[in-house]
Amino acid sequence: MRILVLGSGAREHAIITSLLSEAERHDITAAPGNAGIAAVVPVVALDPTRADVVSQYALDNDIELVVIGPEAPLVAGVADALRQRGIAVFGPGKAAAQLEGSKTFAKRIMDAAGVPTGRAARAGSLTEALAAIDEYGAPYVIKADGLAAGKGVLVTDDRDAAVAHADYWLGHGAVLVEQFLAGQEVSLFLLSDGHTVLPLSPAQDYKRALDNDEGPNTGGMGAYSPLPWLPAGFVDEVIDTIAVPTIRQLASEHTPFIGLLYCGLIVTDKGIRVIEFNARFGDPETQVVLPRLVTPLSGLLYAASTGELGTLPRPEFSDDVAVTVVLASEGYPEQPITGRQITGIADVHDVTIAHAATALVKGEFVATGGRVLSVVATGADFAEARAKAYAALETIHLEGGHYRSDIALRVAG
Ligand code: GLY
Repeated sequence: MRILVLGSGAREHAIITSLLSEAERHDITAAPGNAGIAAVVPVVALDPTRADVVSQYALDNDIELVVIGPEAPLVAGVADALRQRGIAVFGPGKAAAQLEGSKTFAKRIMDAAGVPTGRAARAGSLTEALAAIDEYGAPYVIKADGLAAGKGVLVTDDRDAAVAHADYWLGHGAVLVEQFLAGQEVSLFLLSDGHTVLPLSPAQDYKRALDNDEGPNTGGMGAYSPLPWLPAGFVDEVIDTIAVPTIRQLASEHTPFIGLLYCGLIVTDKGIRVIEFNARFGDPETQVVLPRLVTPLSGLLYAASTGELGTLPRPEFSDDVAVTVVLASEGYPEQPITGRQITGIADVHDVTIAHAATALVKGEFVATGGRVLSVVATGADFAEARAKAYAALETIHLEGGHYRSDIALRVAG
């Protein structure tokens, strides 16, 4: 199949690695990709948020399937433009992508569909935000309503910090003040063709920058899959009470969701609750879910894109476990220092590297952003996978680079 993958992160590198691992050979191009992606498939320097440019490229190059990795092209309507031209695309249109693009929209859909979630108040002014902050009390949960590149969420006991965060994001639009929910977080990805959903294997993300879940929120510093502590029936319960009602609600509003429904969940003592929806594969969870996928990914993505998911069985996963640890630049997440050389990538063993913010300069890899790369390891158990991942990280050098040392420690026995 001729496949175009849009995006430039470790998630897209992991998607491409999975597609390349299939027995069937695919002709894959990435736009714009990164240095690691460019080492395995051709890349084209086009702006993935430009619907006209992407559609023309897909038409000119007989692309049979476009896989949209990040949220920005989805919210920009790139999937709509491709569908209008008859090109199969894995990713929701602009309207359904509001599930991620607007937290207010997501809450309305959840309310209409009867999906369990925490209480939330939308605030369009500081006065409204202050009223909700004091009604819900600490810990305070403040979220930017729109896309915020992983910087929109603050969970804090510090009321002044909560107010400052609300004030800052009110400068960009509305904010949501939410009830704090305590429990273990789970990321569950579901493929959707607009009517039918098929689950992938659950994963857990580590969002804080530092060990023991301390430090600022990030885009994700590591992940593991599967989650041995989940109760039996967890995935079916999420399908029945969350994913299917959400997909049906969107279909009933003539905005079918075709793509990846990312359910960000929390298991509380009162049951499963939705923390957030995203409209695309998660990063870094994709890096641990896809290496365990036995069913060919291309067939699943194509079936979802063409309304044929109902003809397929549930995807199968290996019994192996997977761990990923993110290497970040000094200063991430506040002010990452970029341009520094990364050495040792070619010397690692027993792991795969999913590149994120890397470029090749005079034959050397350099860091171009905050989350630089994900080291991905699989194994028969978490102790083995962790040992491989952390051994590789000792081999890779990035001045000032940092990573968490406790990824998957809680399940490593
Ligand atoms: N891992 C969080 C996200 O992808 O949004």
